[in-house]
Amino acid sequence: MRIFSGIQPTGEKHLGNYIGAIRQYVEGQDRADPAIYCIVDLHAITVPFDPAELRQRVYDTAAVLLASGLEPDRCVLFRQSDVYEHTELCWLLSTVCAHGDLNRMHQFKEKSARQRELVSAGLFFYPVLQAADVLAYRAEEVPVGEDQRQHVELMRELARRFNERFGDVLVEPELRVPEVAARVMDLQEPERKMSTTVGSDSGRVYLLDDPGAIRKKFGSAVTDSGREVRRDPEKAGITNLIGIMAVATGRGEDEVEAEFADSGYGDFKKAVGEAVADYLAPVREAYPAIREDEEGLERVLSEGADRAREMASVTLADARRAMGLGPA
Ligand code: TYM
Repeated sequence: MRIFSGIQPTGEKHLGNYIGAIRQYVEGQDRADPAIYCIVDLHAITVPFDPAELRQRVYDTAAVLLASGLEPDRCVLFRQSDVYEHTELCWLLSTVCAHGDLNRMHQFKEKSARQRELVSAGLFFYPVLQAADVLAYRAEEVPVGEDQRQHVELMRELARRFNERFGDVLVEPELRVPEVAARVMDLQEPERKMSTTVGSDSGRVYLLDDPGAIRKKFGSAVTDSGREVRRDPEKAGITNLIGIMAVATGRGEDEVEAEFADSGYGDFKKAVGEAVADYLAPVREAYPAIREDEEGLERVLSEGADRAREMASVTLADARRAMGLGPA
């Protein structure tokens, strides 16, 4: 089975990325043949960016993924712009994608509303490129956080439409979101997801934050005025912390509630801070040495791109043939 997922090289990666996506990538290496992970620099350029920084952010992200447990001989890790097949398939898919489909995308609506300068056509096309990323590999499973559900539904729809029109070329992938904490919320504004671009630094926990900073952020996490450590749709802050605690300590949410049934919010927040600081310690400790070796990172990415290209070019040749493009 092929697994595919993508991650943006923007900013520093946070706990939401880790819990929603990265830990699933690591686990996918045991099940997939192969597990394919892509750093999506072409998606990152759909909003304002600094070209000199972009390359560095790709290395940062590659280093975070390796520090988290991706192993280059057990997965394919590469940079999106190294494999031209993605952009070609994006164009081919655009012909079976309705303008209205893209207009409905929540992420486009949110991001375009925030854009002060130009709302690029690239931002509008973002989901089509994302569909191409996955469909180019005929991947069967896409591990992501809950916020990507609509994008995965669209790629399934595009695969179906393409196949109906041109024959059985593409594979409809399945969404895979974590059972617990599929949407990690901002610690200061728990009605909103933790995000790289929205909200303050105190609301998001970076994977590379030192333990002191992590404890402090959880210590000042916003909760409600109640006392009980219990999941409740009315208690977004506490519910979020229970999910995070469950993941960080490898237990169920019921167990976490049972353990803290007699604790106040203050003690619970303190315990979550400790648990998350421990949970992220291996990533934080492994990162600096991996990040320092840019040549090594470049080698991993370019070998990954060679393997990725081999797979994607087969799908592209089939798609072109089915659409009547190029010589017979
Ligand atoms: P990116 O880099 O914005 O997010 C990477 C992954 O992190 C997940 N995530 C979260 N999960 C839980 N709680 C949160 N608060 C949270 N914030 C982010 C995202 O769901 C994502 O899985 N569009 C993709 C990148 C992409 C992609 C692809 C993904 C491009 N092509 C193909 C899958 C397949 C994105 O949002 O990346």
